[in-house]
Amino acid sequence: MTFDLTCLSTLRSDKTKIALSLEDMERLESFFRESFRIQKLPDNYDLLSLIRDACGRATAERYRDLDEKRGQVSGSGDAAEAKKKFFDLISADPLLGLVHSTRWPFIIDSAAYLTALTRALELQGPFLDIGCHGGYQAICLATECELEGRGVDVSEAAVRYASTQAKELGITSSRLTFDSRRIGDEMPLGGYRLVYSINGPITLDERSFVELLNVLQVGGLFVWVGNASELNFAELHSALNRVGLSLLLADVIGGWNGKVFMARAVLVIGYQQISGESQDVGTELDSVWQGFSSYCNVSGRGSSDKTLSKYRSWVTFGASEGERVRV
Ligand SMILES: C[S@@+](CC[C@H](N)C(=O)[O-])C[C@H]1O[C@@H](n2cnc3c(N)ncnc32)[C@H](O)[C@@H]1O
Repeated sequence: MTFDLTCLSTLRSDKTKIALSLEDMERLESFFRESFRIQKLPDNYDLLSLIRDACGRATAERYRDLDEKRGQVSGSGDAAEAKKKFFDLISADPLLGLVHSTRWPFIIDSAAYLTALTRALELQGPFLDIGCHGGYQAICLATECELEGRGVDVSEAAVRYASTQAKELGITSSRLTFDSRRIGDEMPLGGYRLVYSINGPITLDERSFVELLNVLQVGGLFVWVGNASELNFAELHSALNRVGLSLLLADVIGGWNGKVFMARAVLVIGYQQISGESQDVGTELDSVWQGFSSYCNVSGRGSSDKTLSKYRSWVTFGASEGERVRV
């Protein structure tokens, strides 16, 4: 399989086309709310109070301690263990939903983005979600796009939760499997046509890309979502070229989480050497963000609509403001 380069080039020049209809967005939002309790929190929410009310004082204190600890030891030899304890803790309802709701613009946008990209490029499975946590994006792809796939995460508690959710939604383990692995462990080998990592453990360096090639099919796509501050485009291009990968498209997801605007870069990478790669990535990222700023500044815009996925729906599918977009 190879991806459709004409379609990719159209999407690169107008990224608002990587969009779901407003009806699809509403279905996605109710799926996240009903299945995972992940939803837009009220503006200026106080997370610890919400956790205390929903889960009790002891859980709120444990959450605060583990969250502080993972910040303190970040980058040290204790970081992996601290992260694992934190992600294990937030792998049960209702804590999972509350904590992930603070990351609403990443969760809803990444699910909408993957779904829209899969449909636009007619991507096929199987897919691999690296660092899947509770499996929300994987389950979404399995149901919205009927793809088969696998989610892996180092947290056994998260993987157990994901498997239970999939089962409850009637998804068989032959269609979607979850298991606990670390990158660097032997990963399920080969043949994945779509691999993605959303705020996950994949770093943008040659060592990580070589591991990726063990699982990605030739002609397949890798979608990376992460912190833009990790990006050094010159180094990225040369690391990709050395291993035979190409940067096809750079984009942004994110939006208003009730307190701040949160943004993450999206890189769509192909396991195929092509000409006409995305070069001016900074400009590509800025062009999306600027249109979104104007959209958010329209007076009366509802705070739950201030995500890039809603903006893309509105530009691409919205009939007229006030008619189809709730403001
Ligand atoms: C910030 S969370 C992101 C989860 C999910 N992809 C999302 O978008 O919400 C990072 C996830 O990566 C997992 N993780 C961390 N290091 C890992 C590794 N080496 N291998 C697999 N998963 C890992 C963590 O347990 C955690 O669930």
